[in-house]
Amino acid sequence: MARPSRVFHLEPPQSRTAAKPRATGGGGKAGIIAGFLAPHPPHLIYAENPANNEPRSHGGWETLRWGYEAARKRLRELKPDVIVVQASHWITAVGHHVNCVENPKGVSVDPIFPHLFRYTFDFHTDVELAEAVVAEGKSLGLTMGAMRHPGLRVDYGTISALHLLNPAWDIPVVSLSANNNPYFFADADMGEMETLGEATRRAIEGTGRRAVIVASNSLSHLHWDVEPDVPEDMAREHIYNDHQYRWDMKLLELIRAGRTAELRRFIPEHIEATAAEIKTGSLNWMLAAMGWPEVPGIVHAYGSVIGTGNAIVEWNMA
Ligand SMILES: [Fe+2]
Repeated sequence: MARPSRVFHLEPPQSRTAAKPRATGGGGKAGIIAGFLAPHPPHLIYAENPANNEPRSHGGWETLRWGYEAARKRLRELKPDVIVVQASHWITAVGHHVNCVENPKGVSVDPIFPHLFRYTFDFHTDVELAEAVVAEGKSLGLTMGAMRHPGLRVDYGTISALHLLNPAWDIPVVSLSANNNPYFFADADMGEMETLGEATRRAIEGTGRRAVIVASNSLSHLHWDVEPDVPEDMAREHIYNDHQYRWDMKLLELIRAGRTAELRRFIPEHIEATAAEIKTGSLNWMLAAMGWPEVPGIVHAYGSVIGTGNAIVEWNMA
């Protein structure tokens, strides 16, 4: 008889009551009120030791986690009706999918780092907005899918970014898949992701929501392939090399200066130079949804996780 797995032994919660979402559509002008670049290394959750995540640590990656603390504070002040997130690890081979399940719940496990991330999730979807994104995407000629299977195991990229921005899970969510797989296409075409951004904006405005939108991606993405005995050993944590660091800094300088038109031209060069995870199109999706605003992005933190470059950035549209 096979031995029981040490990893996949958690059952989806049956009795836990999900946080009640706030009423949507109320207060303030409808539209996108802010955008966040919110990277999703599972290490940041592992280091925080939240009750929802099974493994325990003694901390680590504090500068990034303090940056998320600042971003969380900003999110509470913004009081959005909904958080719309696009992450790179819900990979769909055909088209862009939107999670339309009212109350996703289960256990999310990182397939690369199952010893760090086994997270019990239970949250609410803004189904009206999710369906509206599907409809607007179709009207703009995109191949769209409405994911309605209640058993979908939500990917760790989506869960990590949402937990790090709003661990109370008391704001409804709309979650979008990644149609272009970063690990198989060297040249990612951002055109479709920008059209998806336009569809997202139209859906948000059409449903009268005040939305925060979230691009869940790291920047430079070369990483170590050997883990220290203690994963949170910070003596082993640093950027992969100086080349990666310098390219990340060039990108962040453009963001901090609000030179967004230049940033749009620079992103493909950055992806090519650093194997950046933003080649999944999250950043282009988000900035296109916001109309490529010529406003400075606020960098709450930059730091490495297993050698990759990660920035937590806020664009405040108010
Ligand atoms: Fe990732």
